[in-house]
Amino acid sequence: MKRIAVLASGRGSNFQAVIDAIRQGSIPAECVGLVSDNPGAYAITRARSAGIPVFIVDYSRYSTKDEYEADLLRVMKSLHADLFVLAGYMRILGAGIVREFPGKLINIHPALLPSFAGLHAQRQAIEYGVRVSGCTVHFVDEGVDTGPIIVQSCVPVLPGDDEESLSERILKEEHRCLPRAIRAFCEDRIRVSGRRVSIVGEDSAPPA
Ligand code: GAR
Repeated sequence: MKRIAVLASGRGSNFQAVIDAIRQGSIPAECVGLVSDNPGAYAITRARSAGIPVFIVDYSRYSTKDEYEADLLRVMKSLHADLFVLAGYMRILGAGIVREFPGKLINIHPALLPSFAGLHAQRQAIEYGVRVSGCTVHFVDEGVDTGPIIVQSCVPVLPGDDEESLSERILKEEHRCLPRAIRAFCEDRIRVSGRRVSIVGEDSAPPA
């Protein structure tokens, strides 16, 4: 059974989708911790209700990002996780942390990468005028939302959509895609070749 840990900064609805999938037996893993940079995150309440250990590394108590990340790294290492899931973790992970966990960090992003990386992806999509958007689960590398893509799903952008209505539509897909990617990881079905990822049993052909 794999050990997974989740990093979340806020509401934690993606985290909840992961908790539910573990409970239903569709992700063969144990969630060994929720790590949050925000002591007010609702994700913390969700973890406590599910009996998942909570680790708060309160960003606001540090004077530099380096000091914060040194403590964050200590906490992450102590969890001995096979996989760290960034589920609404709203900071960029420093290169020092990314390098510690090669192939063990994934992130969910509310746009079809490589479009609309960074913050407010749904607002960026509305403002750009795209007709489709969606979500992406990807490995984390040292760039901002640039790592190899594991799962994507698209939704229409409808006339009259605003940031909120589009975010809601995308979120529903996030709640399907994130557990699917974690499940594939935990079942050792993910193969990475350069930028290209294939999921054994889901993709018809492996990357060339
Ligand atoms: C989700 O839409 C997630 O994709 C996004 O924040 C939201 C968190 O919702 N993440 C990012 O924008 C990361 N750059 P949640 O806390 O309810 O899971």
